[in-house]
Amino acid sequence: MLLNDIAGLRAVFVGGKGGVGKTSIASSLALARAREGARVLVVSTDPAHNLGHLWEAPVGDDPVELWRATGGAGGQEATGRVDGIEIDPAGTVDAHLRAVRGTMERLLPDRLHRAAREHLESAREAPGTHESAVLERVAETLETGLDRYDLVVFDTAPSGHTLHLLAMPERMTGWTEKLLANRDRSERYSAAYGALGGTKDTSDRDAELRRVLLKRRARFSLMRDALVDPARVGFVLVTVAEPMPIAESREVAAQLEHLGVGLVGVVANRLSPADALPARREREEAELDGLDLGAPVTRIPQVDALIGLPALTELADALTASR
Ligand SMILES: Nc1ncnc2c1ncn2[C@@H]1O[C@H](COP(=O)(O)OP(=O)(O)OP(=O)(O)O)[C@@H](O)[C@H]1O
Ligand SMILES: [Mg+2]
Repeated sequence: MLLNDIAGLRAVFVGGKGGVGKTSIASSLALARAREGARVLVVSTDPAHNLGHLWEAPVGDDPVELWRATGGAGGQEATGRVDGIEIDPAGTVDAHLRAVRGTMERLLPDRLHRAAREHLESAREAPGTHESAVLERVAETLETGLDRYDLVVFDTAPSGHTLHLLAMPERMTGWTEKLLANRDRSERYSAAYGALGGTKDTSDRDAELRRVLLKRRARFSLMRDALVDPARVGFVLVTVAEPMPIAESREVAAQLEHLGVGLVGVVANRLSPADALPARREREEAELDGLDLGAPVTRIPQVDALIGLPALTELADALTASR
C-alpha cells in the first residue's frame, strides 16, 4: 500500500520515534521503487547514521551507489538504482563556516577579519549553527536530488528533531528576507554615497552579499514550497504497535498538519508473524486502532535479521505485496 501512497511523489520524508524502523523502511522503500526502474536517492539526516551499516557499504557525504538493477527488458539497459548519502553534521558545519568565512572576508575590510573569524569560531558551538548547516544541506540535497533522481527518500532523525527541521525553512526565509530588506536600504545609502564620490568597492561588496542572500533565499523557498506541495512531497510515519510510539505518532501527525506537510502513509512495523500467539496479535491490532491519522496504514511483519540486501529485499517484497 505504501508504494501506492507515494506514487508520483518526488520526495518522501520517513519519520517516527527512535528505533521504530525509519532507516529500514526508508531503505526498503527505495529498493522497492528502484526495482520498478526508478532512480532513487536515500539521504540520512540523522547524526547517528546507520544507512551504511544496513546496506553493508560505506556511505558518506557524497552519493554512493547502494544498488543497481542488472539487465533490462528487451536488451534495454535497466534504469533502477539506489544511491545513498549520510549528511555529516560536523563536516557540514565546517564547510558552512568556511563558506561564511570566505564570504565575510571578501565583504569586510581587512581590519575586521580577525573579529569576524573569532565570531565564527564561537558560532561553531552556538545552538542553531548545527541545525542551520544541516538544513542548508538538506535543502541543497533536495534541490539536486529533484534534478537528478526520480525519488529522494529522507531517512530522518527521531521525530522532534525532524519536525524542527521541517519548520525551519519558513523561519529561515523570513530571516533572509529581513537581511535583504536591510541591504536594500543600505544600497540606497551607498548609491548616494557613490554619487558623492565614494568607492566602487562598497557597491561590489553589496552586490555580492545580495547575491549570496538571494541564493540562500531561493534554496530555502524551494524547500518550503516543495514541503507543502502534496503533488511532490509527502511524509511517511513509521511506528510499532505499542502505546508510546502510537501516542507520539498522533502528535507528529497533528504537527505535520500545522506545518502544512502532507502525511501520505503510516507504516506499522515489526508486527508479529502470522504464527505468533493470537492474544499478542489481538493486542497489536487493538493498538493499531489508535492509528486513525487520516493516512493509510501499511502493515510490515517482523523479519529475522535486518541487515544487508537479502533482508532489505524481504522488506521491499512485503511493501510490494501490500499494494
Ligand atoms: N520489520 C523488521 N523486522 C525485524 N527487525 C526490524 C524491522 N524493522 C526494523 N528492525 C530492526 O529494528 C532496529 C531499529 O531499526 P532502524 O534502525 O531501521 O530504526 P530507526 O527508526 O531508523 O532507528 P533510529 O531512530 O535509531 O534511527 C534495527 O535493529 C533493525 O534491524
Ligand atoms: Mg535510523
